Amino acid sequence: MNDSMAGSRKRIAVFASGNGSNLQAIIDFSKNTDINGDIVIVLSNNPDAFALKRALSAGIEPVCIPFNRNNDRFEYNRAVLQAVKDKKIDLVCLAGYMLMLSSEFINQYFNKIINIHPSLLPSFKGAHGIVDAFNYGVKVTGVTVHFVENELDTGPIISQEAVFVNEGETIEDLEKKIHEAEHRIYPPALRHFCRDELRIIGRKVIITERG
Ligand code: GRF
Repeated sequence: MNDSMAGSRKRIAVFASGNGSNLQAIIDFSKNTDINGDIVIVLSNNPDAFALKRALSAGIEPVCIPFNRNNDRFEYNRAVLQAVKDKKIDLVCLAGYMLMLSSEFINQYFNKIINIHPSLLPSFKGAHGIVDAFNYGVKVTGVTVHFVENELDTGPIISQEAVFVNEGETIEDLEKKIHEAEHRIYPPALRHFCRDELRIIGRKVIITERG
């Protein structure tokens, strides 16, 4: 790719509240592949998030804006929005970020926020996608990367991968397979965004590879 084929390098913020294995997958992927973007900050609401340590190890600025039950959600989101604006972020990647973004935030970054969800949307929305699918008894579940809209887990779908639930498998087996699938599909989806290869037409996301 040359510069005439895609816009300038994107400044990425990854939001994570916990382990950060998807963050790590993105970091590792971008070591070997030019994604036309750089993770500028890793932002968390949780001071103990392992994702913040992963950021430090990779030389990425960790930003922690702690949230507790006494915080005003609107004011909290204002602070997060300001942090993102201060860093001139082009793309927000949610990777296990356990707080809802405010509509103010989503509207200001509309079509510039993507999320990874551990089910085949629109099935099994919400915080427990893996266990909900397992308990329902589905034979096929999977993972979804999608744009974020105001309603939870609803935005246009960028990519999905199916994961089969085989007889005798435990919830732990399924979680492992789901995370492996997430780590396969999230980094390339982000690369498509950074290379301006995604076009949203209604509910459909058209991917045009630049070669
Ligand atoms: C993933 O399963 C993701 O789909 C969900 O939260 C989990 C985060 O895992 N949104 P990790 O922190 O990236 O390991």
